[in-house]
Amino acid sequence: MPERYIEKSLLTTIGLLSRNYMQDNHLQNEQRMGRMVAVANQKGGVGKTTTAVNLAASLAIAERRTLLVDADPQGNATSGAGIAKATLERSLYDVIMGHLPARAAVTTTSLPHLDVLPATQDLVGAELELVEAGDRETALRRAMDSIRREYDYIIVDCPPSLGLLTLNVLTAAAGIIIPIQCEYYALEGISQLLNTVRLVQQNFNRSLAIDGVLLTMYDTRLNLCRQVAEDVREHFGSEMFRTAVPRNVRLAEAPSFGKPILMYDVQSIGAKSYLAVAQELMRRIEGAGAQAADASPAEASPGELPRAGEAPMGVPDTGGAHEDTTPADAQHAGTERAAEIAP
Ligand SMILES: Nc1ncnc2c1ncn2[C@@H]1O[C@H](COP(=O)(O)OP(=O)(O)OP(=O)(O)O)[C@@H](O)[C@H]1O
Ligand SMILES: [Mg+2]
Repeated sequence: MPERYIEKSLLTTIGLLSRNYMQDNHLQNEQRMGRMVAVANQKGGVGKTTTAVNLAASLAIAERRTLLVDADPQGNATSGAGIAKATLERSLYDVIMGHLPARAAVTTTSLPHLDVLPATQDLVGAELELVEAGDRETALRRAMDSIRREYDYIIVDCPPSLGLLTLNVLTAAAGIIIPIQCEYYALEGISQLLNTVRLVQQNFNRSLAIDGVLLTMYDTRLNLCRQVAEDVREHFGSEMFRTAVPRNVRLAEAPSFGKPILMYDVQSIGAKSYLAVAQELMRRIEGAGAQAADASPAEASPGELPRAGEAPMGVPDTGGAHEDTTPADAQHAGTERAAEIAP
């Protein structure tokens, strides 16, 4: 079977499946927003890149024109989206330093509505070179102005630091999503991050908003996770996404194939969770029009958390019994049950 045909039918399948979670609701031309959303937390390994790549792919599947920007010199979002870093001649470094217009460094992907502005190790240089620049906090905002309107969403993966790169992203962004891993000391460093957000609001970007706080690597069987969810809700209230992303081995495997989870295993709980997160984000940003029609909470989001005072709610069989089948995952069976926690 020709490869193109396979790809096309895969996309059709993904489209059909994702309609369980997304209303087929197109933005009107005049509503095009180019909303830039930073995925940031200076803590390492909390799921920033996984969130940026899979949220961007989920928005693209919902037919939102989406640009994934890799603002981390590690370039994990770049390779996770299937772009070979070794062959790249142009990257965010050239754009942020003003050497190239942003459009010139953007590459397309196998998903029709998903483009990527990639990063390589060169970006480390930008962090250093910008220190001397006159517009050192606003360089990215200036650089992105020329393509902002070409997209509905621009999702930016930040590095695990609060250095100049992250500062540039927060200055250019309309909103921030903060992934928090369910672990001991989950909230460690959050006040420092929120201080940085406040500093950016006061000095560079008054309208920077918190678009959502997302629990990642959630395991309903662990009291610890429930406690973290409680603490995060206490701290952030309704800013917290109702969907928590469970620990799911498919999410960890997908980057090594250079694929967003939707292209790797669309039936996995990880794929369904990120579709649900995208749906929540669209609902927050676009309003009621982006809501999935009449979906029950369980249908709408596989990783919903329990409401305050409720026992965690098991997620019904999502038809994905195949989900994690490796021995390691057998231990994580509880992660396939996430629950709901909204206030
Ligand atoms: N829900 C999940 N289930 C299982 N594994 C996950 C999940 N989310 C992320 N991971 C894995 O955890 C590791 C860290 O995730 P990720 O790279 O997204 O974090 P990060 O915050 O971007 O890290 P860094 O701070 O280094 O940029 C990766 O190996 C990733 O595959
Ligand atoms: Mg990362």
